[in-house]
Amino acid sequence: MSRSAHPAGPRHADVFPEGHYSAPPTDLNGLDGKVWARTVERGADGVVRVGGIEVTRLAEEFGTPAYILDESDFRARCRAWAEAFGPDADVFYAGKAFLSRAVVRWLTEEGLNLDVCSGGELTTALDAGMPAERIAFHGNNKSDAEIRRAVETGVGRIVLDSFQEIVRVAHAAQSLGVRQRVQIRVTVGVEAHTHEFIATAHEDQKFGIALAGGQAAEAVRRALSLDGLELIGVHSHIGSQIFDMAGFEVSARRVVQLLAQVRDEHGVELPEIDLGGGLGIAYTPDDDPREPHEIAKALRDIVSRECEAAGLATPRISVEPGRAIVGPTAFTLYEVGTVKPLEGLRTYVSVDGGMSDNIRTALYDAEYTVALVSRASDAGPMLSRVVGKHCESGDIVVKDAFLPEDVAPGDLLAVPATGAYCRSMASNYNHALRPPVVAVGDGQTRVIVRRETEEDLLRLDVG
Ligand code: LLP
Repeated sequence: MSRSAHPAGPRHADVFPEGHYSAPPTDLNGLDGKVWARTVERGADGVVRVGGIEVTRLAEEFGTPAYILDESDFRARCRAWAEAFGPDADVFYAGKAFLSRAVVRWLTEEGLNLDVCSGGELTTALDAGMPAERIAFHGNNKSDAEIRRAVETGVGRIVLDSFQEIVRVAHAAQSLGVRQRVQIRVTVGVEAHTHEFIATAHEDQKFGIALAGGQAAEAVRRALSLDGLELIGVHSHIGSQIFDMAGFEVSARRVVQLLAQVRDEHGVELPEIDLGGGLGIAYTPDDDPREPHEIAKALRDIVSRECEAAGLATPRISVEPGRAIVGPTAFTLYEVGTVKPLEGLRTYVSVDGGMSDNIRTALYDAEYTVALVSRASDAGPMLSRVVGKHCESGDIVVKDAFLPEDVAPGDLLAVPATGAYCRSMASNYNHALRPPVVAVGDGQTRVIVRRETEEDLLRLDVG
């Protein structure tokens, strides 16, 4: 970005926002459809609505901060993924992005499956009625108790992540007198970072079993030799917030090569492959995510091409989108508490939440946008940093944002695209109370996760 491109007034003359802004937006009242849940719009009175309900009303009724989730958008995204992949593939929603009993019910109703990665997620899934056979159980260090529970309850698949686990799951299955369906998670030597794709020569991370050096082939050998296991396929997850399909292409090719090797060595064609999750969403208007039908077509084409080349029947494909389903469906609603203009720098706008409800900015340098939602404003753009109320200067929610110059205490701000990995990664830092998740659908509002209370904090404190 060139210095002259920055048109803000003298107050901000020497400061240039990093990230996605090349200039302040011309319309600070506009809400870019890419980053907001589908039913979000600004009414003629300037107040933003979701599902027809004013954010001012939501703030009054449920308080702030609060995650506001558009249920119809969530359901529409589930349907779009299910339809895009069709009846001969499986979509597993990755519960780590955000999981609650209501979410499990929506998934069950919309025909999706569920990927869980802990005993807690498994409990939530089963408690809310997700049929066990539609659950995949993940994790690089599942405990014996978690494994036993998963086998006992009859989860559809356990994704094996280490040599030790192959033996542990086989043992649990045998002692319960069942055969457990399993996949082997392989690391394909592709590392995908936010917004980019890097092929790595070695696999320096904790997940999966490396294809390199014949490790994955050895894992297949062991799994096939154990009576308690029914090996149904191979799993690969290459990363998160990925836009480029090139990483999936390499991953699919390498997974299919392993299937061909298994066929040659054991005379067995494994019937399934799972290509994991990781599909990116728009956090800012600069992000360009693909639609589920494009992703489905791209993945299907890659797998069929590779299988044809290897002389294999095309296996059943599954995917595990988390962020791509829930991410865009929610925004966080905050109230402004203080506004602090720093001469020659920027204005710090403090809200009533922060890194305890959205750690992603501090942890990953994630970019977000923000809008004044309780009213429209004709004031000019003001370079702002939206910060929280925690005792730490890294407590930033939106690093660089233009808000109207007249933003003031009592105004409501909303940060879009916070449906994934915000509530699920929320903390009690500084004894903050984790915000509620309020679902809006069909003109109705419903708290699906309630706000924490000080009593909740004290209840755990038994010293
Ligand atoms: N499948 C597996 C095996 C995974 O490990 C993950 C995410 C997913 C599916 C879902 O990925 P998604 O479609 O949501 O990108 N906390 C980070 C993201 C961590 C993702 C971990 N695994 C963040 O806030 O960006």
